[in-house]
Amino acid sequence: MFLFVFTKKISSKEYLLPMDVEISVKKETREAFSAPIPSLSLSKMRLFTGGRHLFRRSWTTAPSSVKSLDGLGPVFNRVSCSGCHVKDGRGRPPKNSNKFRSMVIKLSLTYNNEILPDPNYGFQLNDKSILGVPYEGKAKINYSKKIVYFADKSEAQLTVPHYSFHSLSFGPLDPKTKYSGRVAPTTFGLGLIEAIKQEDIFNNEDPLDKNKDNISGRAHIINDLPSQKKIIGKFGWKATRGTLLHQITGAASQDMGLTSTIFPKQNCMNIQKVCSDQINGGEPEISDEQLHVLQVYMQTLAAPRQRNPQDREIIDGNNLFTNIGCENCHISTYRTGKHKDHKELSNRIIKPYSDFLLHDMGPGLDDGVAEGNAKSSEWKTSPLWGIGLVKTVNKHTRFLHDGRARSIEEAILWHEGESLHAKKNYINLSAEERSKILKFLNSL
Ligand code: HEC
Ligand code: HEC
Repeated sequence: MFLFVFTKKISSKEYLLPMDVEISVKKETREAFSAPIPSLSLSKMRLFTGGRHLFRRSWTTAPSSVKSLDGLGPVFNRVSCSGCHVKDGRGRPPKNSNKFRSMVIKLSLTYNNEILPDPNYGFQLNDKSILGVPYEGKAKINYSKKIVYFADKSEAQLTVPHYSFHSLSFGPLDPKTKYSGRVAPTTFGLGLIEAIKQEDIFNNEDPLDKNKDNISGRAHIINDLPSQKKIIGKFGWKATRGTLLHQITGAASQDMGLTSTIFPKQNCMNIQKVCSDQINGGEPEISDEQLHVLQVYMQTLAAPRQRNPQDREIIDGNNLFTNIGCENCHISTYRTGKHKDHKELSNRIIKPYSDFLLHDMGPGLDDGVAEGNAKSSEWKTSPLWGIGLVKTVNKHTRFLHDGRARSIEEAILWHEGESLHAKKNYINLSAEERSKILKFLNSL
């Protein structure tokens, strides 16, 4: 029944191999995302354990009795990394309470082709603060409904987020400011992604769509602050970070208000005088030693292996996934290159299901916030490994960058722009075929 079977992008016979067992785990518990890679040496295991401790620890206001863990804020979103990356898994939009626990709001405005922060609130709304300092403000989400019809006449309901703001301490947002909800992504397998060779990502670019499949895809070249080098961004919803060190120090600064040697400035906008006047928790607040153990932890969390890959329906679902064009972006297999810190991560077969390229996903997912060279409609193909375990680990099934999708199927139904063709193919499948694709995705 299919119009075409794509042939580009995957060539090697290694494509059929499962993930290497030295770097992956098969667990179906709430700890499924939290295991170290099995090949980790004892000495690195000590660093991993230290990193895990730091990832879960709550930071406190300076000055405090535990000097190494003070310096939180003055404004922030959460007191620990694991507060958002719960169980190394993914965040979600607030439940009815409208308390943002594992999701943030990014802000920006585009002026004369330049991407600028909101003048009073910066690039991210910090909805919490230490005692005596005003927090920036609070956000609220309401949803409206949108109906999508399958070819077989059955229907699905999607929810469209609408944001509003209240209790803003420094007046309204700039009228030109746009906002983008972002849930915390999962944090496993990231060292393996770091080890993917740049040329393997460049090979899948097709900015001018020469092969006429309507999919262009381009790497997001970013300036890596720690190394001061231009490299491919691989982390974050718009691939804005190319190394975990850059990502972690950015998170410490923006999400928790912790300064580091990479981001030495306190996260206070000019107008926020009380914020700027606070005592700091040391210069920097998070030390290079602490960053090192956090980095090792983030690099060496194992990736979850597919469950029941021999199941007939899962095999059918996998073939359908490939044949309707999902794998043109969600590329399953890579052999990693050399990881600069960990030989355990080098030269391994991995299955992240992403091309790590930016794609225009159409108007529905365009929230107006551009970042770096990524346009507001462009998103990095989300890796799909572990997606079937989110329900077990995080007790929810909220997907896409802002968690608007309440199921994997709803996430698929939001695909437009470069992925419209694949979405249409999905809609044209029978209920039985669709359920096989979902069964396959849930096995990842
Ligand atoms: C307030 C919630 C919050 C806190 C606290 C937080 N993060 Fe995040 N994290 C996020 C969000 C949201 C993103 C995605 C950002 C984006 O791309 O827009 C993210 C992205 C990441 C990524 C990239 C993951 C990927 O798959 O691309 C890593 C790694 C990460 N955070 C590590 C950390 C570490 C380490 C800490 C503690 C120092 C931390 N985070 C604290 C919300 C949080
Ligand atoms: C043109 C590239 C492209 C194609 C083709 C494509 N996707 Fe995606 N996919 C993306 C991007 C980009 C995102 C992230 C969108 C966002 O978060 O706003 C995504 C997100 C997803 C998600 C949500 C993941 C998460 O962690 O939130 C699922 C599930 C998914 N895709 C499945 C599919 C399936 C199934 C198909 C085939 C019908 C498909 N995709 C085809 C690019 C693509």
